[in-house]
Amino acid sequence: MLRAEASLTSDPAWQPLVPTGPIRFSEDFAWGVGASAFQAEGGDVPNDWNDQIRTGRFPPNPGNGFFELAEQDFALVASLGFRHYRLSLEWSRVEPERGRFDEAALDRYRAICDAARAAGLTPWVNLFHFTHPRWLVARGGLGTPEGQDDFVRYAEHAGRALQGHADHFHSQNESMVYVFGAYLTGQMPPFGSDGEHAQAMTRVVLSLHARSYAVLKEIDPRNRVATIEVYLDFHPEDPEDAPNVASVRSLDGWYNCILEGLATGHVTLPGAPEEPVAIPGLRGALDLYGFNYYNGTRVGRSGVASVAERPDTPVDAMGRHVHPRGMETGLLRVAEALPGVPILVTENGCPTTDEDFRIRYVASHLAALDRARRAGADVRGYFHWTAVDNYEWAEGFSDARFGLVGFDPATRERHVKRSGLWLRDVIAKGALDPATVP
Ligand code: FCB
Repeated sequence: MLRAEASLTSDPAWQPLVPTGPIRFSEDFAWGVGASAFQAEGGDVPNDWNDQIRTGRFPPNPGNGFFELAEQDFALVASLGFRHYRLSLEWSRVEPERGRFDEAALDRYRAICDAARAAGLTPWVNLFHFTHPRWLVARGGLGTPEGQDDFVRYAEHAGRALQGHADHFHSQNESMVYVFGAYLTGQMPPFGSDGEHAQAMTRVVLSLHARSYAVLKEIDPRNRVATIEVYLDFHPEDPEDAPNVASVRSLDGWYNCILEGLATGHVTLPGAPEEPVAIPGLRGALDLYGFNYYNGTRVGRSGVASVAERPDTPVDAMGRHVHPRGMETGLLRVAEALPGVPILVTENGCPTTDEDFRIRYVASHLAALDRARRAGADVRGYFHWTAVDNYEWAEGFSDARFGLVGFDPATRERHVKRSGLWLRDVIAKGALDPATVP
């Protein structure tokens, strides 16, 4: 029975965020989990993140054992009721040297996709999640036309190799997080910080998406190919300050230019050139829009911070305020920009070691999803980030744990957390009962 009509959470800071009434999910609502190769597999693969780890710039990454234990993980995740598993290929494993594709690695990825299906999970294979093969970096990376052709050739090879094993693909993860982090703010390899180059790389990643979309559809038109972008809900720090408002608007236009690109085939980037730039093949190059969301982003005099609506807004283990409203805004914005395109939440979750926090966070975001859905966004599913705790990039393995499942680093034995059991019950009932939110 679904009882509550008011928030029952014992924590006043969460009361304005958690759902107050029951939320129902249809039988075909797609429940899934998301993960990426390097974060879950770790290992001594020849990529640029490992090179940085070796210099001490990033923490070590032993992985969580997914590459070896995928069969067990699928059984566990399926037992919780999930029906979809988003994973990625580690490019440097698949193509450790330029033009040499490693059949043993491809065999393992094929077996992983088959095992997912055998467990009742649809594998969604993402081809690029931030890491570059070492050989690509040595040749100048994705900024060169040859590097871009290398990417497309890899996408084609991977798509063909997985034929009959997977038919749901993503060309890349969060292309704009990648552009901003790798070419504008210098936070991830290759650590660039040049606005003009970052704009050029924006056009590159959009074009790589368009080209890989075409290639994957050509291999088999039945392949479902989706983009994945994280939505940053931008806010000016001082809404009264016109220059602050204008610069945030321009940043937002740049960051979210993929919406314009997918809708029209061209993008308008701030500054020169003012004219829209055509990205061949981008218009309509998606079967689904993959929408990631974590928090809101406030930009202004004091730099970049997360959005806190109230002084007591809860903060996660990475110092980010919980802001479900941004998810609702983002879903509606995508729905308006790309009418007729189904939306899938391909990542949402939080870094924490506190299971009450995680349950409240997920419940609050499912409530936001539901509001957006009721206002017209065609949201088909929710993939939680992540299944098993993994390597959170620069945070490494720390308290920034996003998993519904934990593991013992010595034995790699898995244990389902309270949030995993809670979500299992939501899925089984097809409903979120607010009375179950602590
Ligand atoms: C996303 C990344 C993913 C993970 C989550 C927490 O932006 O795509 O790899 O780190 O954040």
